[in-house]
Amino acid sequence: MSRNIQKEIKELKKRLNVTIVAHYYQKDEVFEMADFSGDSLELAKVASKDPNPFLIFCGVGFMGQSVKILSPKKRVFMPKVACCAMARMIDVEYFDQNVKTLEENGITKDDFIPITYINSSAEVKARVGELGGSVCTSSNAKKIIEHTLKKGKKILFVPDHCLGENVARDMGLKSAIIGRDGDIKEADILCYNGFCSVHQLFSVEDIEFYRNRYPGILIATHPECKPDVCAASDFVGSTSQLIKFIKSLPEDQKVAVGTEFNMVNRLRDKNTFILSSTKPECPTMNETTLQDLFNTLKSIEEKSYKNEIEVDEDVIKWAKVALDRMMELSK
Ligand code: 13P
Ligand code: SF4
Repeated sequence: MSRNIQKEIKELKKRLNVTIVAHYYQKDEVFEMADFSGDSLELAKVASKDPNPFLIFCGVGFMGQSVKILSPKKRVFMPKVACCAMARMIDVEYFDQNVKTLEENGITKDDFIPITYINSSAEVKARVGELGGSVCTSSNAKKIIEHTLKKGKKILFVPDHCLGENVARDMGLKSAIIGRDGDIKEADILCYNGFCSVHQLFSVEDIEFYRNRYPGILIATHPECKPDVCAASDFVGSTSQLIKFIKSLPEDQKVAVGTEFNMVNRLRDKNTFILSSTKPECPTMNETTLQDLFNTLKSIEEKSYKNEIEVDEDVIKWAKVALDRMMELSK
């Protein structure tokens, strides 16, 4: 059954001039259908510049939306429009509430520049763009923060407090979580209280377990993991950076990896462990099936265009400013 679907998917995408891109966290059978794969930044770059008029993005909602914003004329489809749980933790109202909290503490809009992780809605990106800020991904967060700090202001970082705190520690800066931890007046990076529940699964105890069991093992984690976990890791990086690091290791070097299951599972045949006793599966990434991908292609063929990504022009205007600022710094 699935072999037939895969063959039909390949024929349809060729005949209809459709490009398929997939994030590493997609199920294997979906991932195998992609023309391109990569981390969030690489996929946004490659997909927005792709010459085909139709693009199918196998990933989570903010990824397809970002391509539509960067390249508004392109017709972007998602087999499942599943929203990243972290992106859902913030909307414009919550964003504005945090700005108000800062104001109540004497930190005005003139005192900070906002940066939003790409794992956020188009509306949040638009608000950030309007306030003079930009988007970042896990692979360029440090570069974007470094550049933004040159303007001599604090940074309001949304929605992932772990990424914000991890970059702050890496750069020797002070961070605080608004309404939760730390001194916002002292902090250089003011983090919104959002997080990825999948990456919260990894703990320092897991690291100790692997280090005791396999002396010499390396620990590689994604920067959405908790700050104490990243601090205790040997390597921290985006999905693509993790893959590059792990593939460069000698075959007999053991490594335990703190990120989503599907990606870690297809990395290496041997000596690669998942850094958690609980399977770290991203529920929304795992929603996309081969059948969904096939249905999307069929809907393009039949011109019924199911699951096409649309973003309001007003939202695109400022969200594009925020995304373009990031792209300019990521050349
Ligand atoms: P990357 O940009 O590193 O691929 O991360 C995307 C993501 O959602 C990780 O949870
Ligand atoms: Fe969102 Fe976490 Fe899933 Fe990444 S792993 S898409 S941050 S919920």
